[in-house]
Amino acid sequence: MRILGIETSCDETSAALLEFRGDYFRILSNVIFSSVKLHAKYGGIVPEVAARKQMENIMIVLGRALKKRISNSRYSIVNIQRPDYICVTNGPGLITSLRVGVETAKALSYAWTKPLVAVNHLEGHIYANAIFDSDTRAKASTGRQFLALNKIQTPRLQIPKWKFPVLALIVSGGHTQLVLMKDHLKYRVIGETQDDAAGEAFDKVAKILGLSYPGGPEISRLVKKGDATKVDLPRPMINSGDYNFSFSGIKTAVLYKTIEKKIRKEDMCASFQEACVNVLVNKTIKAAVAHNAKMIILGGGVAANERLRALLKYEVCNKLCKTELLMPDIGMAGDNAAMIAFAGYYRIKNKMFSDWRKIRTEANLRLDGRSIGQ
Ligand code: KG4
Ligand code: ZN
Repeated sequence: MRILGIETSCDETSAALLEFRGDYFRILSNVIFSSVKLHAKYGGIVPEVAARKQMENIMIVLGRALKKRISNSRYSIVNIQRPDYICVTNGPGLITSLRVGVETAKALSYAWTKPLVAVNHLEGHIYANAIFDSDTRAKASTGRQFLALNKIQTPRLQIPKWKFPVLALIVSGGHTQLVLMKDHLKYRVIGETQDDAAGEAFDKVAKILGLSYPGGPEISRLVKKGDATKVDLPRPMINSGDYNFSFSGIKTAVLYKTIEKKIRKEDMCASFQEACVNVLVNKTIKAAVAHNAKMIILGGGVAANERLRALLKYEVCNKLCKTELLMPDIGMAGDNAAMIAFAGYYRIKNKMFSDWRKIRTEANLRLDGRSIGQ
């Protein structure tokens, strides 16, 4: 079966075509357009700008993902490959950005009479871990005119078998959650941030230090020349006895210490990163022990952070030798449609389809079904 994935939850417009056969799958395309550079001058995502770019680019991205050139010595034609299923992110995210993907998916589902599958963006980040081949670089290329598109393909890969219970640490720009999975698609949020998301804290600290947006990659770059022991920063909620997080206190401490005295940016970045990563890894290990997790999974944009990956790996090896650790390929950590198609594959297997007349777009859609805010 061929599955089309569509992802437009924030500032990335992405479409991917995946082929599943028996125990194997292949990524036929994973095309990503990112408008992130347009937002850099504002120091954060501007929803109106993001949505406008989604509208301008969705058809270009879809065309690139579905087009197949067939050539021989006499002719060359371009075919649009029709998928068997259409999977689309319907939340959480920016409502106007999400609507672009959802409305497009509805139109395609109606026109092609193909089943439609609504996928939660966060389950996409979880299932990005199923795509672990190092060839699957899906790096969003933002090019000079913000129109460079990246198309990738993989050879045939085996669909991995996950060992449950799985504990997933999702760390993105909008979310920080510890999710317990007893089976595919069965989610229980056992802990989450009470204020800023981890990625959001990286972005805000970068702004305080005069670095550009998005802050995560900028801070990671400066950390290499910094000393993480130079600035003493708090580890909020580290001994709270639950699996919740808080990052705004670390951010505020960075602000005050920056005002108080002259500290090298590199040292501040290293100390800040260390504080965040310490809390994330500490709580993940505690939750994995308490819930007897057979597998730990990392997902979301912050999963690209090298220190987080290294410390998590070290702690799992030392403290949980029987637990497997899956981390997404760096290129798969950020938003992309291949991860949405992959999560959709499990929904299709469970016949969890959405009627195009009824599919809802929810800015605060939760993994465990409870909708907040709206
Ligand atoms: O998952 P994602 O692409 O978008 C959301 O769903 O939010 O995550 C984006 C977030 C941004 O906050 C960005 O600063 C952060 O991921 N990020 C990083 C790194 N690369 C991206 N944070 C820390 N270290 C990184 N290397
Ligand atoms: Zn994301």
